[in-house]
Formats: sequence, C-alpha cells, structure tokens
Amino acid sequence: MVYATTTTTSPARKKVRVPDILKMKSQQKITSITCYDASFARLIEMSPIDFVLVGDSLGHVMQGYKSTLGVSIEDVAYHTKCVANSLKTPLLVADMPFGSVGLDDLRTFKDAETLIRAGAEAVKIEGANSKICAQIKVLTENGIPVMGHVGLTPQSVHALGGYKIQGKSSEAETRLLEETQRLQDAGVFCVVFELVTSDVAFKLTSALKIPTVGIGAGLGCDGQILVLQDMLGMNSSFKPKFLKHFAELESTVVQALQSYCTQVCDGTFPEKSEL
Ligand code: KIV
Repeated sequence: MVYATTTTTSPARKKVRVPDILKMKSQQKITSITCYDASFARLIEMSPIDFVLVGDSLGHVMQGYKSTLGVSIEDVAYHTKCVANSLKTPLLVADMPFGSVGLDDLRTFKDAETLIRAGAEAVKIEGANSKICAQIKVLTENGIPVMGHVGLTPQSVHALGGYKIQGKSSEAETRLLEETQRLQDAGVFCVVFELVTSDVAFKLTSALKIPTVGIGAGLGCDGQILVLQDMLGMNSSFKPKFLKHFAELESTVVQALQSYCTQVCDGTFPEKSEL
C-alpha cells in the first residue's frame, strides 16, 4: 500500500512565519494545534491553522506514557520530521523535552539545533527561571526563535504537585508576571499559558508586547492551542473542563473497525467492485 504524502494547500494561504505570529497580537486571534505525524499534518494543511506544535504531549498521545517526562530529544526530532514531511503553510514549532533546558548550556543549544535540523522553525521551552531565560537569550540571539510556556509546565509536574490550575494566589500572579516579562526580555516571540486563571491570563496578555496562546486559560489570550487528538474526541473519557470535543472520532473509528470485522467475517468485504 502506498500512501499519498502530497499536501493540498489552499492557493490563497501564505506561509506563516515567526514575524507573522508576532504581528497577529493586535490584529487577529492565533489558532494552533499539536501534531505528531504526516497523516494529520496533511489534514491540518487544509485548514487555516497558524502554527503547529510537535508537543512533548506526544508522550501521552503517541507513546502511552503517564507524563511527558519519558520523552527524549530523539522522539521529538523523529515526530518533527514526520510532520515536516507534510506541513508547508503553518509555522512549525517543536518542544524541547525534559532535561533539554535549565542544566547544561551546550546541551540546550545542541538539542535546539537537532529540532531545527529536523524541520522545526522554532522551539518551545517550558519554564522561565533566570537560568532558562539566559539559555533562551543565547538561542534567540543565534537565530533560533523560541516560544515560552508558563503556568502549568508538565515537565515540572512533580514539583507542582499535579496537573493543577496556576496563578490563583496574588504571589503566583506576581511570579507569572515576572516570568513572562523575563521571557519577553530574553526574546521569545510568543508564550503559552497552560491552566492559568482567565483573569491572570487576561492581565498578562494586556501587559505583554508578545502574543499569548492559552490552553485552559480562558478567552483573554491572543490565541488558543489544543492537543489534536483531544479536541477530535479520540478518547471520549478524557474531557477536562477546558477541553471541547470538536468531533467524536473515538466512536467513528470504533464503528468503522466493527463494520470492517463484520464484513470480513460474513464475506461481504471485499465486494466485486473492490476486487
Ligand atoms: O506538549 C504540548 O502539547 C504542549 C501544549 C499543551 C501547549 O505543550
């Protein structure tokens, strides 16, 4: 079986680049989605999505891990290559996985280089302490665009005590303000707010020059991001409050598999026209 890997791009759509995302802050909402493979990238290419993230959520979605901590730089690079093979128009961002930042400067640079060589046009980094921001500054000053990620940072799940909403206390709000200002100063072109209260996400979005993209952070952000398989309803039992299922693919896929098995067993597939 040979799969078509060509993509269909609407002729009117122009390639989205980092400066376009920056400009969108004052002009239009930013739409983004995660993706880990060429088949879905081909479908995303037919939509108006602005940027695609090869997130380390691939640990949950593709690898079946309970957290993102087991994801390696090789894993992200592999999935980035798969997506890059089909994706042309949206900006392609890849996640720096656990261990890539905050420790060894050379490792941070090498890991970012690996993702850019795999086809990413920017990298996303979780966290915003002064060490991480210094590493981000080196990347941005050397031509590697960086997207920040604050609030619930899943790579710190053990330190945060679970997947909980962030920014509830005034201290937490002040910390988020300091972190986002530090990220902006380090040169990030956009920042993801994950599970940040709507009020805080709105205030920070107004205070920043760079765009903000939220997941479970309310309407006040400059854009939204969701995990593709989650918003397609591929796991009907995974439905946190912030998640909307824009389709119910779990039942669609299971029904198709059931029909296939029935038809193979009763001899109605293949039909004459399929021979
Ligand atoms: O890994 C991921 O998918 C992410 C998004 C949830 C922002 O970081």
